[in-house]
Amino acid sequence: MTTNAPSTLVMAGTGKTGRRLVQTLRAAGRHARAASRSGEVRFDWSRRDTWRPALAGASAVYLLAPEDPALATDFVTQAVDSGVGRIVALSGRGIDRVGDFSPGMVAAEEAVRKSGIEWTIIRPNNFSQNFSEDLFRQPLLDGRLALPMGATPEPFVDAQDVADVAATLLTSPGHHEQVYDLSGPRALTFDAAVATIARVSGRSIRYVELTPEEYHAELLAEGYPAETATALNALFAGMRAGHLAEPTGGVRRVLGRDPLDFDTYAARAAAAGAWS
Ligand SMILES: NC(=O)c1ccc[n+]([C@@H]2O[C@H](COP(=O)([O-])OP(=O)(O)OC[C@H]3O[C@@H](n4cnc5c(N)ncnc54)[C@H](OP(=O)(O)O)[C@@H]3O)[C@@H](O)[C@H]2O)c1
Repeated sequence: MTTNAPSTLVMAGTGKTGRRLVQTLRAAGRHARAASRSGEVRFDWSRRDTWRPALAGASAVYLLAPEDPALATDFVTQAVDSGVGRIVALSGRGIDRVGDFSPGMVAAEEAVRKSGIEWTIIRPNNFSQNFSEDLFRQPLLDGRLALPMGATPEPFVDAQDVADVAATLLTSPGHHEQVYDLSGPRALTFDAAVATIARVSGRSIRYVELTPEEYHAELLAEGYPAETATALNALFAGMRAGHLAEPTGGVRRVLGRDPLDFDTYAARAAAAGAWS
């Protein structure tokens, strides 16, 4: 690679969307580097000395928000100083309506809007992969997923769709100053999602409805910090209120195709051994 060849720094390049984005960009012949504490490029939000070396040579950045909102503007400023010309920022659907569940995301959105370079913000619904690679996996393996969600449906979005959208936004013109809400093609209740996973995995799993207070107590008992329990309850309150429940056309607007369905996700994850 020459020093001025386009290169994307993929933050959280070991995570659910970042890992897929690195693979997607590379499959398209693009240069991409995975940055995180354990990634091929060392980057740690809490270690400012890792920021500038990670940014060296990057023409574009896939930005995941820091937990600490105070860091967002400093990082974006350093990125611009380092020669980054485009940022695609991963935010969350409903960030403007669900309240205070992620101050870091609010700060990151604001920082990229003010950056003076090309920017696009993506705001996905909950990832389908939360059931196979994150918070909901162990409860499913234990046979009981318990949440304060009620009967409000959620149009879960596949992390591969988020990665495909991000890859297009990072490499194609025409998306400057755009904000895309990204969802799956249909909304389903957590009860229905659990039933689908029980069917494709052949496991006995039930969904249990909790009050927000019961959920908070269960998270503390599982060892989550109080602030995480509070943030998750704020997220579920917004979801319960229906702020994220309608499917959006964001994936189709960017990719010209429908998003992946939850049934497809569940069948693929089961075949890959997610719940074996
Ligand atoms: N999950 C969802 O349904 C969903 C939906 C919408 C938006 N989001 C947002 O997407 C973002 C990522 O969520 P995710 O669920 O995709 O995460 P994830 O898969 O759990 O990945 C987290 C990533 O962050 C990296 N990381 C953690 N601490 C770090 C630090 N101090 N410095 C640098 N990198 C660090 C991790 O890598 P290392 O451990 O190697 O550092 C990992 O690559 C969050 O901002 C979340 O709010 C998530």
